[in-house]
Amino acid sequence: MTDRYAVIGNPVGHSLSPRIHAHFATATGEDLTYRTLPADAFGVAAEGFFEAGGRGLNVTLPFKLDAFVWVAERGGGRGAARAAGAVNTIAVSREGAHGYNTDGVGLLRDLEHNLGVGISGRRVLVLGAGGAVQGVLGPLLDAGPHRLTVANRTVSKAERLAAAFAGVEASGLPDLDTDYDVIINGTSAGVAGGRPPIEAAGVQDAFCYDMFYTLEGETPFCRWCGECGAARTADGLGMLIEQAAESFFLWRGVRPPTRGLAQSLRA
Ligand code: ATR
Repeated sequence: MTDRYAVIGNPVGHSLSPRIHAHFATATGEDLTYRTLPADAFGVAAEGFFEAGGRGLNVTLPFKLDAFVWVAERGGGRGAARAAGAVNTIAVSREGAHGYNTDGVGLLRDLEHNLGVGISGRRVLVLGAGGAVQGVLGPLLDAGPHRLTVANRTVSKAERLAAAFAGVEASGLPDLDTDYDVIINGTSAGVAGGRPPIEAAGVQDAFCYDMFYTLEGETPFCRWCGECGAARTADGLGMLIEQAAESFFLWRGVRPPTRGLAQSLRA
């Protein structure tokens, strides 16, 4: 029987995940369907999906925290999800529901494998201190940066993350150092067409990565960094694809090919 998967969120109609997973299924010959699952309340919708035989869910905004609690109540909050405090992937087995967070793995695989940007020994700055950033700090630390700073408009949120993740430094945006090799925008400023307000001098000669992405042109952060003399810029479409590949692997035990998919989604 064809196995059923979905991405749950609100709104979720714009999600690229069905296209990405359809590509993975075709490439690997796995028999599955993957659709969007719009929901007002996470628990009710997830319960209904799994009771009807669904095998796995991806979880997007605004439900990653709800999913973490939901899975933990079923005894399955574990692995990367625990440090991330958020779940973006749920798999069910006979033992129950298991929660994972594949965002950090996706970011690292895009940076290190696809883009050739090593984190080990580098000075890394992450902008923003919301759920998206919290989800990737564990894997970033594991990659062995020389320095990892979280800078946020509301400095208390950066300080909270620094207290929770040993090895992370906190900063506000105005008092930021300018000596970083890799700068990662994890704020949601791009959603409203903006970018975090940092000094242009800071991005000069740095590799600048935007966890936000756009299919057409450049994100506001990437465009601005390029104008300020960044060595290179990239947006988060590759991260989206790689976190999806990791979910697919968790569900199916098969690693799907990702090469060339970003270009075909943009085309
Ligand atoms: P997400 O789950 O996408 O991380 P979030 O938890 O609401 O969303 O966090 C959004 C992050 O983007 C926060 O760090 C926020 O800064 P504040 O904590 O000061 O609100 C940051 N952010 C959003 N818009 C921003 C902007 N225009 N400039 C700078 N930071 C911004």
